[in-house]
Amino acid sequence: MDWQEHEHEATRAIEGAATADDLDAARVTYLGRKSELAQALRGVRDRETGMLLNGIRIRLEAAVAERERVLADEELERRLRDEVIDVTLPGEELPLGHIHPITQVRRMVEDAFLGLGYEVRDDREVETVEYNFDKLAFGPTHSARSPRDTFFFENGTVLRTETSPSQIHILEEKPPPIYMVSIGRVYRRDAITATRYPIFHQFEGLAVDKGLTLADLQGTLLHVMRALYGPERRVRFRTHYFPFTEPSIEPDVSCGICGGAGCRTCKFSGWIEMGGAGMVDPRVFENVGLDPEEWSGFAFGCGLERTAQLRHDIPDIRALWEGDLRVLRQF
Ligand code: PHE
Repeated sequence: MDWQEHEHEATRAIEGAATADDLDAARVTYLGRKSELAQALRGVRDRETGMLLNGIRIRLEAAVAERERVLADEELERRLRDEVIDVTLPGEELPLGHIHPITQVRRMVEDAFLGLGYEVRDDREVETVEYNFDKLAFGPTHSARSPRDTFFFENGTVLRTETSPSQIHILEEKPPPIYMVSIGRVYRRDAITATRYPIFHQFEGLAVDKGLTLADLQGTLLHVMRALYGPERRVRFRTHYFPFTEPSIEPDVSCGICGGAGCRTCKFSGWIEMGGAGMVDPRVFENVGLDPEEWSGFAFGCGLERTAQLRHDIPDIRALWEGDLRVLRQF
């Protein structure tokens, strides 16, 4: 075996390899386990032959590594040359979604209250009877406690029927002063119609401090209604009843469609009902261990669907739950 000639031949094959595959083939042929060189190395008996063959192996391995580097460089050069990206060409447009109208309104509510220094919170949707009714001073025979109105689970839990349990949670968590708004889903056993849906969203405000009055409640609601419906809005109160506020009221906002003159949206009254509100009932303070002589507060709750409907003039509440893109794309 002429090892010198063999080395020349191998070197030529390695240096002449035009692609990574060619190079790999040459490496297998001349350095692989079954190559003549490897086999000869296995059979080496004397030191001189061992040094000769090992020398060839080391040089050939170096040649393979060098060729590998050159081929990789060439490949990079080629790609830099051929795959030029023209950054001035318009890209492929990605379809952009947008935020659901309920989420839009939710964020507007959050912004309006953050601007007043309120904290925003979210609470559990599966509530205990204790927090959904008892601690909010619902009487034992209140109709909302009926399984005809409310979704009951076993062992004293319900799908919350309003966001008002958040009032109790925060009052139990920390001492006043408290300024919070809680936003989330609530559930009632209503049949699905154009105006009702068994799931909907509410935002619930609670302020507890010293010396708060109905005037503070009115000013706060006015601020929020103007943030939601525009600077011209006015707010009025009608008396009402809720177990956890005293006095209780229902706030109306002047109709933004007709400016208060009367139209179909406001049923020709000039006013639109916004939800419920009132001054925190002394029994609620007692239920969370606060002295009603020392603390005062107001609370309110309004529906987000209603707000979105009014803002966008959406007559049917189902449109907000069906996820039909032909509808949602419009907002
Ligand atoms: N939770 C009441 C409802 O869902 C609204 C409300 C909230 C009333 C806060 C008074 C105070 O109808």
